[in-house]
Amino acid sequence: MKKLMLTIAAAVLLTGIAHADDKKITLGFSQIGAESEWRTANTQSIKDAAAKAGINLKFSDAQQKQENQIKAIRSFIAQKVDVIAFSPVVETGWEPVLREAKAAKIPVILSDRAVDVKDDSLWVSFMGSDFVEEGRRAAKWLVGYAPIKALAAKGDVVIVELQGTVGSAPAIDRKKGFEEVMKAHPNYKIVRSQTGDFTRAKGKEVMEAFLKAEGKKINVLYAHNDDMAIGAIQAIEEAGLKPGKDIVIVSIDAVKGAFEAMMAGKLNCSVECSPLLGPQLMQAVKDLKAGKVLPKRIVTEEGVFPMETAAKEFPNRKY
Ligand code: AHR
Repeated sequence: MKKLMLTIAAAVLLTGIAHADDKKITLGFSQIGAESEWRTANTQSIKDAAAKAGINLKFSDAQQKQENQIKAIRSFIAQKVDVIAFSPVVETGWEPVLREAKAAKIPVILSDRAVDVKDDSLWVSFMGSDFVEEGRRAAKWLVGYAPIKALAAKGDVVIVELQGTVGSAPAIDRKKGFEEVMKAHPNYKIVRSQTGDFTRAKGKEVMEAFLKAEGKKINVLYAHNDDMAIGAIQAIEEAGLKPGKDIVIVSIDAVKGAFEAMMAGKLNCSVECSPLLGPQLMQAVKDLKAGKVLPKRIVTEEGVFPMETAAKEFPNRKY
């Protein structure tokens, strides 16, 4: 009898647990990959925030391939998750899979990067940085930097640019914002511009090619992220030049690696792009499930860190 009672009690308890688990919101998240320090911090932020919010996270790493992201989203649809979020590696080519999600009545949140689709009803909200503004900030800092101003007063300023992943929102927008400011400064010349795919290895490789082609003529490197700038710093040093002095460097993200390079005098400025989107994303997922209407665009607040501020700011950095 006692044994029977115990069995019944255990069954009741287990059913309770199963029901509690049923109520958990399931979020399918398709991440781009692990191409940069920024991306690693972004992944961590999402995983930590999901655990803290009690959200059941199905996480998939696409290794920087759009086809893998599409596969992951299709699998989330098949698993009937409550919400899908993803950081699209490139802007275009998402209509078919987003239409499938909409047909399955699964809301989609864009995290970090935007998509270029005609029908805006295919996604509910886009949270992340204003990449065009980041490009503008990098350019504005550059034209105001005393040594570069002095150079510009005498003649041309020769710039090389390391672009992010071809077709990605940050690469397109950061180029656009930078060029927009440069239009008012015709003697700032972007002589070479090539993709370094947001990675250190590619940043180094492309910078080597820039140095081979332009040599000591290069005054400025504008890199669409810190990782490429850090790779390029290595190439500059190997070419016998001093990064931060012979070549002024401005990049985007403001990750810890960039602060270290700034404190060593090798990087002149990093424009902030925050990867800490996890808590905001989990809140949005909960709000959606509670029937609230999300703002279509949630913009992340960010700053600019010239090298002179690096030592003071470094202890406060969270990524
Ligand atoms: O989409 C954000 C960008 O992607 C970051 O600037 C870059 O470091 C990352 O890989």
